[in-house]
Amino acid sequence: MSETTAKRPARIISIVNQKGGVGKTTTAVNLATALAAAGERVLLIDLDPQGNASTGLGISRQARTVTTYEVLSGEQQLATAIVPTAVPRLAVVPASVELAGAELELVDLERREYRLADALAGIALPYDHVLIDCPPSLGLLTLNALCASDAVLVPMQCEFYALEGLSHLVKTIDRVKRHLNPRLEIQGIVLTMFDKRNNLSEMVAADVRTHFGDKLYDTAIPRNVRISEAPSHGKPVLLYDFRCPGAQAYVHLASEVLKRERLIQAGSVEPDKSNVS
Ligand SMILES: Nc1ncnc2c1ncn2[C@@H]1O[C@H](COP(=O)(O)OP(=O)(O)O)[C@@H](O)[C@H]1O
Ligand SMILES: [Mg+2]
Repeated sequence: MSETTAKRPARIISIVNQKGGVGKTTTAVNLATALAAAGERVLLIDLDPQGNASTGLGISRQARTVTTYEVLSGEQQLATAIVPTAVPRLAVVPASVELAGAELELVDLERREYRLADALAGIALPYDHVLIDCPPSLGLLTLNALCASDAVLVPMQCEFYALEGLSHLVKTIDRVKRHLNPRLEIQGIVLTMFDKRNNLSEMVAADVRTHFGDKLYDTAIPRNVRISEAPSHGKPVLLYDFRCPGAQAYVHLASEVLKRERLIQAGSVEPDKSNVS
């Protein structure tokens, strides 16, 4: 438990990219684990009907009795959905396939964009950080995550169309900030599955740096087979193989994220001074 953040309300960060397969869930699970390993208390909310973050943390389908679906529909309090994981200080709110229906069902509910924000606001959370693993779309589930969050962390794979996707995402974040959640900001962008032998990776990294400056984390997550093996063992890569380059990259990312969070909380940086769109 860190001294500086222990008495503050939890900071809520959504892991967002409307594209699938870019490393959102991998980043959510392993960043959460690395933060917990650094002594922070972390809650990971699985907001993807695929439930990969829950699986990756070893939560079996049978163990998912209360899930994000019941929380969003208002049937259950968020606190009753929280389950511990094998990682000390890391807990998860699991997801089930029913969540796929929520996208449509929420449309008719009151405060449909704020269901998750309201659920989180309703209780005092004994966590320093809440991370939300979002589905690969900018639908109502992701909108709920954005409305509940202080910040967004964008995992990005270095490929040709990635920047186009990123500018669309940034416009969406700006729109949410203007109309629905004024406190929302971009915490940072992390390059995933980075391959330094591939020129395209370096070109995309240079482009992102030109457009987004220091929003790009110094840490890039390398393509590493240990990262992709870990979920089949129900473990974050930090537990599966702590020494592998992928695990070490997430440890570095966690320290960068913490550093930025502390600067933002101390009020010594204007979080979103850049006009990113
Ligand atoms: N750095 C990496 N190195 C190797 N494989 C990775 C890496 N990051 C993610 N993967 C693999 O890529 C696939 C997609 O990642 P995932 O985190 O599920 O993406 P998303 O949540 O954005 O759909 C998964 O099979 C995952 O194991
Ligand atoms: Mg995912």
